[in-house]
Amino acid sequence: MKPTSFYDIFITSLFLFSQFVRGLDDCRSGMYPPKGPTFKGNVTWYTVNLDLPPSDRWTQVIKDKNTELITMVQTIKDMAKGFFHGKLVDLVDEELPLIVDTLPQPFNEEIKGIAAVSGIPLGEITLFNIFYEIFTVCTSIVAEDLNGNIYHARNLDFGLFMGWDQQNKTWTLTEKLKPLVVNVNFQRGNKTVFKSTNFAGYVGILTGVRPGELSLTMNERFNFDGGYIGILEWILGKRDGMWMGFLTRKVLENATSYEDAKNQLSLTKLLAPAYFILGGNRVGQGCVITRTRINTLDVWELDMKLGRWYILETNYDHWEKPMIFDDRRTPAMKCMNQTTQANVSLASIYDVLSTKPVLNKLTTYTSLMEVSTGTLESYIRDCPNPCTPW
Ligand SMILES: *[C@@H]1O[C@H](CO)[C@@H](O)[C@H](O)[C@H]1NC(C)=O
Ligand SMILES: *[C@@H]1O[C@H](CO)[C@@H](O)[C@H](O)[C@H]1NC(C)=O
Ligand SMILES: *[C@@H]1O[C@H](CO)[C@@H](O)[C@H](O)[C@H]1NC(C)=O
Ligand SMILES: *[C@@H]1O[C@H](CO)[C@@H](O)[C@H](O)[C@H]1NC(C)=O
Ligand SMILES: *[C@@H]1O[C@H](CO)[C@@H](O)[C@H](O)[C@H]1NC(C)=O
Ligand SMILES: *[C@@H]1O[C@H](CO)[C@@H](O)[C@H](O)[C@H]1NC(C)=O
Repeated sequence: MKPTSFYDIFITSLFLFSQFVRGLDDCRSGMYPPKGPTFKGNVTWYTVNLDLPPSDRWTQVIKDKNTELITMVQTIKDMAKGFFHGKLVDLVDEELPLIVDTLPQPFNEEIKGIAAVSGIPLGEITLFNIFYEIFTVCTSIVAEDLNGNIYHARNLDFGLFMGWDQQNKTWTLTEKLKPLVVNVNFQRGNKTVFKSTNFAGYVGILTGVRPGELSLTMNERFNFDGGYIGILEWILGKRDGMWMGFLTRKVLENATSYEDAKNQLSLTKLLAPAYFILGGNRVGQGCVITRTRINTLDVWELDMKLGRWYILETNYDHWEKPMIFDDRRTPAMKCMNQTTQANVSLASIYDVLSTKPVLNKLTTYTSLMEVSTGTLESYIRDCPNPCTPW
């Protein structure tokens, strides 16, 4: 595959923009249970046993998904060759294996275990784990119905600007990722601690539910107040922040309550800015935490007194306008408003998340969660033409 140049991106953008103009939808209805051309398949369940040594936990997942994982890692490497004359790939193979030991437990051991089972070099598995923290855009919604039930749902959109496949009108990385999506039931003492929708080979969490306690999703926050400096610093040796996807996993694994989760997500120093979207199972338990690396700018909560029966986060601060060429917020809000609090449910939110451009060519999966019942359902998505590229 040839490396992407900025010229390619420019030309592709022009082409994509023409798609964009004719890809907008009226709010969808009756899409649930998932069926038809926007539903590509169910997600398989695996159990990860937290009582096992970290290096043995992912063996079954990796055995089943190894071919797809090797293809994905190779694709990422091929793309990385386009940057800094291939120096980035040298860095990955020479430096990242050393860095793995500086990661906290249990992530370092889990990553080593995955590398051993898959036969993929340690540096490349580490790169793969970093990659997800960066190339993801998303839509997350937490909503409360008139009976005080809380629903939390998200679209995960992955593969930003990388490898547009002109022939199939798809994003190469997005398509390669779909077969790697797995549902994981994390257990201790044979009992579920939390559940997540993951990518085989990735040890952090982007989407998860701790039954009876909380649901959590993370969205990327592209912001220049520190932005990716933290990641660069981390690679260069200054390692005092936490990977975002490791914090979400720590919270799902060990937080004792919704409030405890909110505190940890607000106070822990991070490597890069992020949005954490947290749901609970009591009236008013839902918030979007807007993070810089160091502190929390804002906690935006459900508030029935203010008529705020849902909160919706894409990849922009909620008090600012989204960028005009990437406005998934206005269409999603329009559809939520049309749904009304009286008819909100996982089914009606699935409809919202099936409306273009909230559903777009980057959309990899849709997840639906409900804390009180411990529900986590995920569906692989497709967006046949005409469809917006992001
Ligand atoms: C997905 O799972 C549902 C419920 O278990 C089942 O009815 C449906 O046939 C499955 N669809 C596909 C495409 O596997
Ligand atoms: C387009 O999709 C087909 C069928 O999935 C695949 O065989 C082909 O390699 C794809 N084209 C490119 C350029 O990747
Ligand atoms: C979990 O279940 C398996 C089989 O049902 C049993 O052999 C094992 O002892 C159980 N482990 C724990 C920690 O309860
Ligand atoms: C959760 O707590 C246990 C027990 O203290 C610890 O061994 C484990 O590493 C923690 N999990 C994470 C992801 O930090
Ligand atoms: C949706 O409703 C909220 C609350 O009434 C309002 O502030 C917002 O402008 C509406 N958005 C759209 C896109 O209709
Ligand atoms: C309520 O939501 C369901 C599921 O999305 C939808 O099919 C139905 O048309 C909605 N009913 C009303 C009255 O809007």
